[in-house]
Amino acid sequence: MAKQSTIRTPIVCVMGHVDHGKTSLLDRIRGSSVVSTEEGEITQHIGATLVPIDAVTRMGGALSKVTVNVPGLLFIDTPGHHAFTTLRARGGALADMAIVVVDINEGFRPQTIEALQILRNYKTPFVIAANKVDRIHGWRVQENQPFLKTFAQQNERVQGMVETKVYELVGKLSDLGFNSERFDRVSDFARNICIVPTSALTGEGVPDILMVLIGLAQRYMTESLKVSADGPGAGTVLEVKEERGLGMTLDVILYDGNLKVGDEIVAAGNDQIIETKVRSLLKPRPMSEILTEERFERVKSVTAAAGIKVAAPKLDGVIAGSPLRVVRGGNKEEVVEQVRREV
Ligand code: GTP
Ligand code: MG
Repeated sequence: MAKQSTIRTPIVCVMGHVDHGKTSLLDRIRGSSVVSTEEGEITQHIGATLVPIDAVTRMGGALSKVTVNVPGLLFIDTPGHHAFTTLRARGGALADMAIVVVDINEGFRPQTIEALQILRNYKTPFVIAANKVDRIHGWRVQENQPFLKTFAQQNERVQGMVETKVYELVGKLSDLGFNSERFDRVSDFARNICIVPTSALTGEGVPDILMVLIGLAQRYMTESLKVSADGPGAGTVLEVKEERGLGMTLDVILYDGNLKVGDEIVAAGNDQIIETKVRSLLKPRPMSEILTEERFERVKSVTAAAGIKVAAPKLDGVIAGSPLRVVRGGNKEEVVEQVRREV
C-alpha cells in the first residue's frame, strides 16, 4: 500500500507535430502498464490516462535508484493538427510537465516549434521523445527495452545514425535557446533538456521517458504539486459534449482541490459567466465492463489531479478551454471574478 501523500499526481501533456506518434506513445505507456501491473489498475480518466506510480516504476527499470514521492502520472494527449492551436495551448497551460514527441527521421516541424514556445511561455519542464527510432534502416528491435540496452545491440552504422539525428535535434533546440543532450549524458535536469530516443511501436526507450518524467517531478515540482485535497476544486474544461441520457456535459481536468456532486460551480461562456450546480460526476468504465453496464460510472466526488465528466443544468453556453471553479464558503463573487480573469 502506497504511503498517503499530500503531493498530487503531476499532469503530463503529450505534444508535438501531427503523426509524430503522441497517441501511439500514450497507448504504449498505457498498454505496457496494464500488463506490468497484476491488478491492471490503470484507470482511464476523461481526456486523460492515470498511470499509478508502482506501474511507472515497474516499467521504468533504472528508476529504483530514485526515491519516488509522486502518486503517479496523469497523461493528457493533444492533437498535432495545425488547426488545434488553442487546444494545445490549453493543454500546455494545464501541464506540470510535457513530452514533446518528434519523429527522429523528420526532425522539427511547425507544431514541434509551437509546442516548445508554449512550454517556454509557461516555463513547463519537458522531455523530448525522439520517436520512431525503429524506422532507422537496419534497426534491430528489442521490445520494451530501455534505450541504452537496445542501443548497445545495434550495429555501428545504426548507432551513428541515432547520434547524428539526436545532434540535429540538439542543434534545433539550441537555435530556440534550449540546451539539450541525450538523456544518459545529462547530469543536471535544470541545465539540459533530456532527449530520449523512443519507439512507440516497440516500446523501446519508453522506460527512460518515464524515468526522466519522474526525475523532473521529484526535483523541480514537489512544492508546486502540494495541493489542498479538501479545498474547492479548480480545473479546465477540455470539451463540451452532449451525451445520450445526460444532456450537455463538460470534460474537465481537475488540477486542484476536489469536486463533489451538488457543488456550485462557475465556468465561462462566450460572453457570460455560467453558474450552475453539479448534478453528476462521471468516470469512464473499463472497456470490459461497458458491454454489460452503462458507459459511465457515477462517483460522489473526485480529487485533483483527475479527468472527470460533469453533468449539470445550463451547460450549453460553456466554452471549451474555460476555467471551472467550485464555490464554497460564500465567496461566490470572488470566484466569478477569478473565472472572468482566467478566460
Ligand atoms: P496526431 O494526433 O494526428 O497529431 O498524430 P500523433 O502524433 O498522435 O501520431 P500517432 O500516434 O497517431 O501515429 C501516427 C502514425 O505513426 C501511426 O501510423 C503510428 O502507427 C505510427 N507510429 C507512431 N509511433 C511510431 C514509432 O515509434 N515507430 C513506427 N514505426 N511508427 C510509429
Ligand atoms: Mg494523436
